[in-house]
Amino acid sequence: MRSGRKRAVRSGPARAAAAASAFALGCTALVATSGPAGAATGCEVEYTVVNEWSTGFTAGVTVTNLGDALDGWTLEWDFAGDQQVGNGWNGSYSQSGQHVTVEDAGYNGTLGTEASVEIGFNGTYSGSNSVPSSFTLNGVECDGGTTDPTDPPEEPDPDPTDPPEEPEPGERVDNPYVGADVYVNPQWAANAEAEPGGDAVADEPTAVWLDQISAIEGNDSPTTGSMGLVDHLDEAVEQANGEPLVFQVVIYNLPGRDCAALASNGTLGPEEIGKYKNDYIDVIAEIIDRPEYSDLRIVTTIEPDSLPNLVTNVGGRETATENCDEMLENGNYVEGVAYALEALGAVPNVYNYVDAGHHGWIGWEDNFGASVDLFYETAQTGGASPEDVHGFIVNTANYSALVEPYFDVTDNVNGQMVRQSDWVDWNNYADELSFAQALRDEAVSTGFPSDIGMLIDTSRNGWGGDARPTGPGPQTSVNDYVNEGRVDRRIHLGNWCNQSGAGLGERPTAAPESGIDAYVWVKPPGESDGSSEEIPNDEGKGFDRMCDPTYGGNPRNGDSDSGALANAPISGHWFSEQFQELLANAYPPVQ
Ligand code: BGC
Repeated sequence: MRSGRKRAVRSGPARAAAAASAFALGCTALVATSGPAGAATGCEVEYTVVNEWSTGFTAGVTVTNLGDALDGWTLEWDFAGDQQVGNGWNGSYSQSGQHVTVEDAGYNGTLGTEASVEIGFNGTYSGSNSVPSSFTLNGVECDGGTTDPTDPPEEPDPDPTDPPEEPEPGERVDNPYVGADVYVNPQWAANAEAEPGGDAVADEPTAVWLDQISAIEGNDSPTTGSMGLVDHLDEAVEQANGEPLVFQVVIYNLPGRDCAALASNGTLGPEEIGKYKNDYIDVIAEIIDRPEYSDLRIVTTIEPDSLPNLVTNVGGRETATENCDEMLENGNYVEGVAYALEALGAVPNVYNYVDAGHHGWIGWEDNFGASVDLFYETAQTGGASPEDVHGFIVNTANYSALVEPYFDVTDNVNGQMVRQSDWVDWNNYADELSFAQALRDEAVSTGFPSDIGMLIDTSRNGWGGDARPTGPGPQTSVNDYVNEGRVDRRIHLGNWCNQSGAGLGERPTAAPESGIDAYVWVKPPGESDGSSEEIPNDEGKGFDRMCDPTYGGNPRNGDSDSGALANAPISGHWFSEQFQELLANAYPPVQ
């Protein structure tokens, strides 16, 4: 649980403030040359949670007009979570989804320059009650600055000594995906293109997985092929062609990897932390730090599943495994992740995103805060610092829906809360978008920099096709309502291997929602999660029965059927049937 109950925000978080100050700089210069201001606009908002309890809160909002006097005003914002405005004062309130509109109450409609009005309301929420990140007054963003629309548009300045408007190539920016292309892995593209209909998505960017030491050099894996890190980076420089380009790489090789499962066990034993540091991280750090790659924006996904496993699958919990207990005890996950953050974070053009599981794992109250605490502790281990963390990534290689459009965890059916349904099972979140935004807020309030951003892996969480519901389920019971209305068609939220019925999700997109740096395809669609039967191999991959369609489950999936596709090859290898199904069930559909 968050400790501070009272939080205030002035003119949005650092992300908004950074944009605002860049704008204000341009403006100051203009005001100096443009004479008296015309109809100036500008505002500042202070939003304070003055009281908060487990399901409700009271907020006070002070709105200050920094522009010319207003005759009538409308204030608007978007909640990041499921907050609902109840009764409010000194204004008339309405809410549609997460969007809130407050109109003046008549008697307080006139707002002079520098004048303030105080309004407030009682609201309800579940999960996290974060402060909205931005506000508008009469359509103008309240960032504490002022603008004068009678100012002439800014002329390009020919003086080359002026500070540049655009970031220098390779300079670390707030959101690396904005204004940049993303690297298309030619080997994945070739696999996709070879499938019927696959050329429709073959130009989508996917991540490069460095899933064993030999992958740095390039190995002869029949599917991931022989391109090593240098080959990929050289190709990325070509694709960039002098423009900003994001190169996405997955750091995935911890000692005792994948401790709660077998399908993606790696080649390093639980104690091989020295080898991880010297022969893996140091080698990668040296390569990406070479001057020829300094203009690329290198986005890392740091060690999928590792830290979340140390929270949920240890210590006498029903879900615990011996391997996870061992990795908690020997400290090598924490030490390895901290080392990766430090070594890679030291490279100026690297953006580290730490894997944070997904809502169907970390979304429960007991797991949520504990995970963020562990992330924070890890980011302060050894030489790492929270500044080495650019953000977090959720749903890596998983299938959790981005948005459940037809139900909300706070809905009620016949006096029963949706949280009580079998599917939701008391989770605070029903989808990845709400979870990611709440996790970001929790991380910031725990001490991570306020400008961190989130990535969501949408490679395989589309859930389209014929089985996709088109409206809410019936109100006959809370289970009917959720089960017939949910777009995620898995048998159980804990199922993770080659899920039957899944589709490609949102195509990779920059800055799609507040707090989200990008939707990304980190798991390359069409690459298997694990073999459906035991297949001997030299990649350290085990056989996990969660990938066997005849398996009846374990406590981590509520003892349910695995929902996995049959005839699957070992993890990382091309699985044509799965690719075909992902394409057919894509949501949004593939045109
Ligand atoms: C596998 C890796 C593979 C990656 C991407 C992981 O589950 O363990 O070997 O590169 O998926 O397909």
